[in-house]
Amino acid sequence: MSILDKHAILERNATLLLVGSLLVVTIGGIVEIAPLFYLENTIEKVEGMRPYSPLELAGRDIYVREGCYVCHSQMIRPFRDEVERYGHYSLAAESMYDHPFQWGSKRTGPDLARVGDRYSNEWHVQHLIEPRSVVPESVMPSYSFLKETNLEVKNVAMHLTANRDVGVPYSDEMVENAEADMKAQADPNADTAGLLARYPKAKIGDFDGDPARLTEMDALVAYLQMLGTLVDFSTYDDASGYR
Ligand code: HEC
Repeated sequence: MSILDKHAILERNATLLLVGSLLVVTIGGIVEIAPLFYLENTIEKVEGMRPYSPLELAGRDIYVREGCYVCHSQMIRPFRDEVERYGHYSLAAESMYDHPFQWGSKRTGPDLARVGDRYSNEWHVQHLIEPRSVVPESVMPSYSFLKETNLEVKNVAMHLTANRDVGVPYSDEMVENAEADMKAQADPNADTAGLLARYPKAKIGDFDGDPARLTEMDALVAYLQMLGTLVDFSTYDDASGYR
């Protein structure tokens, strides 16, 4: 009996074909799934990544609440046109502390994965208040109310512990200092040594231009200004070899 004849038996017997198919899919499934139980982490560790500071985390919440992701992605794909426009393609590790991640694929506006440091705080505030005052052809809505809305400071520590529950490595010290760290980051005169030790590279400043108030604008701009700035790509060893 040739191999073709043997296969004909399978093809003519629906039950046997079903059992055979299930067997093949099961083997394939096990081969793919089993290693995940033995790997500690599937995301490559990258130097420089740290959890969000309390102020950045609050800004990220506002970003999600306002649906910025509806028009903006945060994932630079490894294609030449993207890398030349936005910078180094996004690494999985860069969103490892995001719950949920903000990758997206809808780009009514530009990708924001590396928008940090690209503009001044003043530019962001002006742009968020009235996008057309800096980019005349913009279709982005105005978010001027963020500058008038005080940032809610209560529950900051609980916010960190909630993230810790889903795997973000916030230490007890970070949780204890959460509220103070949040206020210090938006105050250029504060003692920020502790904050910077806990959250290296955190940007400190009066983000919204109004030192008297801590507003949602402060938090959102602090978040935008850190996006894509934690990993130093001049020293990052790109194992994929992609340039
Ligand atoms: C209706 C779609 C839309 C929404 C919603 C939206 N944007 Fe935009 N955004 C745009 C467009 C279009 C541009 C490009 C023109 C411009 O700069 O205004 C843009 C530009 C930007 C830029 C400048 C990026 C660059 O590299 O020049 C930033 C920063 C930004 N948006 C942040 C936000 C934030 C934060 C939110 C949520 C609070 C938001 N956007 C919501 C459409 C949107």
